[in-house]
Amino acid sequence: MLIDRPDFVQALDANHAWRLMNTGATVIVSAVHAGQRNAMAAAWNMALDYAPGAAKCAVVIDKQCFTRGLIEKSNRFAIGVCVREGAAACMALGSTSANNSPGRDKLIPLGIDYFDGEPHADGALPLTLGCAGWLECERYPEPHIEQTYDLFIGRIIRAWADARCVANGKFLPLDQIPPELRTIHHLGAGNFVVPGEQFSP
Ligand SMILES: Cc1cc2nc3c(=O)[nH]c(=O)nc-3n(C[C@H](O)[C@H](O)[C@H](O)COP(=O)(O)O)c2cc1C
Repeated sequence: MLIDRPDFVQALDANHAWRLMNTGATVIVSAVHAGQRNAMAAAWNMALDYAPGAAKCAVVIDKQCFTRGLIEKSNRFAIGVCVREGAAACMALGSTSANNSPGRDKLIPLGIDYFDGEPHADGALPLTLGCAGWLECERYPEPHIEQTYDLFIGRIIRAWADARCVANGKFLPLDQIPPELRTIHHLGAGNFVVPGEQFSP
């Protein structure tokens, strides 16, 4: 269901967005094209560049994913860095394909809450709840690696963060982040871990 952007969602300098990807958390990849919105889970993702104005991230998106078609048509996608309270949504989005949903809509049937990213002629990217932050990306075309490795690169053009997890472009100390807002990390077969200790060697 489309909701208003919650107050705890605050703009994040895109040049700090790599910190969200540094966690290695499972992410939600979302896209929109011609009024069609969709989202999927993706555990295979990483930060790629943090140069000012050139921050990038990368994510593997299989050819069978309906979301991939939306990205190929719109040249945009969003990444949401999942936290524990979004784990059920993450599993639902990662276990159900819009290819098999009536009208190619799975967000409504799955009861996924999302808010709009920045307005855009092709539609605002759907940013799903249950994430520590969200990166709005322009597809950075690399046809060879997209076809060969299913790897998509995004140039981060805008970012948002949950102020209960992130302040001044940095994650709060782990013991200040409530358990339900800690990032989730997929081990496989629907098993996840959350960070349990922060330390500085
Ligand atoms: C925890 C989890 C992690 C996943 N990671 C990836 C991934 O990194 N890349 C990928 O292509 N699919 C991944 N998937 C599978 C897709 O999310 C799944 O195929 C999804 O149904 C695609 O949805 P769509 O066809 O509606 O786009 C993952 C699924 C789960 C549950």
